This record gives sequence, structure tokens and C-alpha cells, in this order.
Amino acid sequence: MQKKMLTPKGRVIRIRPLNENDLDSLIKMYTTLSDSTLKYMRAERFTEEEVREMFQKVDFERVYSIVAEEKDFGIVGELRIIMHETGSGEIGFVVHDEFQYQGIGQSLVRAAIEFARKEGIKKLIAFINENNACSIHIFRKYGFEVEKRFGPEYHLMGKEEAVLKLALRLN
Ligand SMILES: CC(C)(COP(=O)(O)OP(=O)(O)OC[C@H]1O[C@@H](n2cnc3c(N)ncnc32)[C@H](O)[C@@H]1OP(=O)(O)O)[C@@H](O)C(=O)NCCC(=O)NCCS
Repeated sequence: MQKKMLTPKGRVIRIRPLNENDLDSLIKMYTTLSDSTLKYMRAERFTEEEVREMFQKVDFERVYSIVAEEKDFGIVGELRIIMHETGSGEIGFVVHDEFQYQGIGQSLVRAAIEFARKEGIKKLIAFINENNACSIHIFRKYGFEVEKRFGPEYHLMGKEEAVLKLALRLN
């Protein structure tokens, strides 16, 4: 899986699976995310050690990773699919501040759907903070539907906010 897209500013973005040479670039991306980007993801900043652990977990069996890369910046976004025992693959994704709102998140989601189909994954799911309108818009645009709403008592990343479980069945 290799895809190219152009941002509105004319920057070329490659969408491809993570590879063994990506660690430094992945560390740079995650450790320089702004607080506003982290807001719907987690309470604390990412440390280098954590990103190393995340990198090592990618085995393309239980944990898949698709990245967006720009030639000067390096990795500008990552989408992970974490397989659950139920056979569903849970998506999480992020695009670096400088590159947000240029279509990259959507390219990652499209690539993930295509990739999951090829891998025989039957269902993709995502748990999204109900106030994260941008992510909800993207998932709905590509066919995900709300399967469940967890009220504010469901503590996602330590935050007491409502969370939607979005799901897409694949054939
Ligand atoms: C969510 C995220 C990955 C999206 O990536 P992105 O590259 O910025 O998104 P894109 O440019 O591909 O698409 C943005 C879409 O959302 C829409 N959008 C933007 N703000 C919106 C809002 N407040 N409400 C509804 N839709 C919104 C845009 O119009 C666009 O849709 P369109 O092309 O149909 O018009 C990125 O913004 C991010 O990393 N956010 C922080 C982390 C996060 O929330 N991760 C999700 C939890 S798993």
C-alpha cells in the first residue's frame, strides 16, 4: 500500500505502512504535538520512551500502523489499527499541527479502510470524544455509524466526557 496526495499548499504526502526506519521521525512527531492536538487524545505529552514502545508494538498482526510522510518534515501523521480479541480493529489517528485540515487525516482513514479489507478485518471501530467534531465528521463521511454512546462516567484518558463508539462493518 503506497499512495500519494497533494495538500492544498502543494506539498506531496506519501501514505504508506510504518517501516523500521521510522522511529526517529515518529518520536519527533509525537513529542512536538501541541496541547490543542493532545486535547482529545490524552492528558500528558508523549515521551520519547513511550513512542519507542508504541513503535515496537507494531507487528502488522495485532497492531497495524499507516503513516503520512512529507519529505522535509518526515512523518506528519499516523493511524493505528489495534486488533481486539473480538476481531474488530480499533482506529486511533493523529495529524501534526502544521499539517492539519489539509485532507491528510481523511487520506489515512481511506487507506486504513482499504488496508483492513485486504487484511480480512471484519469491523473497524473508533472511540471518539463526543466534542471532537472534526474526527466524528471524518468517520461518518467514510461510513462509520454511532454504535454506542458512553456517558461522561466513561473515563477516556482520565477525562470525564462522553465518548462515541463509531463502527464500520467491512465485507
Ligand atoms: C482529527 C485529525 C486526525 C484530522 O486530521 P486532519 O488531517 O486535520 O483532517 P482532514 O483535513 O483530513 O479533514 C478534516 C475534515 O473535518 C472537517 N472539520 C474540521 N473542523 C470541523 C468541525 N469543528 N466540525 C466538523 N467538521 C470539521 C473539515 O471540513 C474536513 O472535512 P471535509 O473535507 O469533509 O470538509 C487531526 O485534526 C488531529 O490530529 N486532531 C487531534 C487528535 C485527534 O483528535 N485524534 C482523534 C482521536 S483518535
